[in-house]
Amino acid sequence: MRRAACPGSFDPITNGHLDIIMRASKLFDEVIVAVSINKTKTTLFTVDERMELIREAVRDHPQAATNVVVESSHGLLVDFCRAHDVASIVKGLRAVSDFDYELQMAQMNNRLAGVETLFMSTNPQYAFLSSSLVKDVARYGGDVSGLVPDIVLKHLRERL
Ligand code: PNS
Repeated sequence: MRRAACPGSFDPITNGHLDIIMRASKLFDEVIVAVSINKTKTTLFTVDERMELIREAVRDHPQAATNVVVESSHGLLVDFCRAHDVASIVKGLRAVSDFDYELQMAQMNNRLAGVETLFMSTNPQYAFLSSSLVKDVARYGGDVSGLVPDIVLKHLRERL
């Protein structure tokens, strides 16, 4: 089975993330969204909340995919890949500024475990989008509709 991981913090998932996940789901038999648990990072949503928001966003997507699963991941991503029989990591690239760090991680992950990283160009509609920017705008009452799944919009409004 050709299985890929889409890793990230997803705090919360944005439409940019969702676009990459749905496109990856057409290229692989199974896509595992690996939601990172990083105890040193303060998140707005707990890992369980982030996972549930992703599940609901995938379920509500017009091109509903049945081959997307959501798991939590702690420690090294390559260990997650080994444990889940994942040979490829799919990452979205928004701009050149993403590239340096993503390339470093891709090369390290390949060196550690031979895992390949495939970069997918972000839909230009979402090129400026990040979870932190969404939280910042939402925190001060800005309108982020159309930038995050509806279910995330609802939870952001409640939380902030
Ligand atoms: O959404 P983010 O926060 O940009 O995602 C970053 C993430 C979680 C993909 C990255 O930090 C990661 O892979 N963390 C797991 C720990 C790890 O494997 N670190 C070494 C990377 S070479």
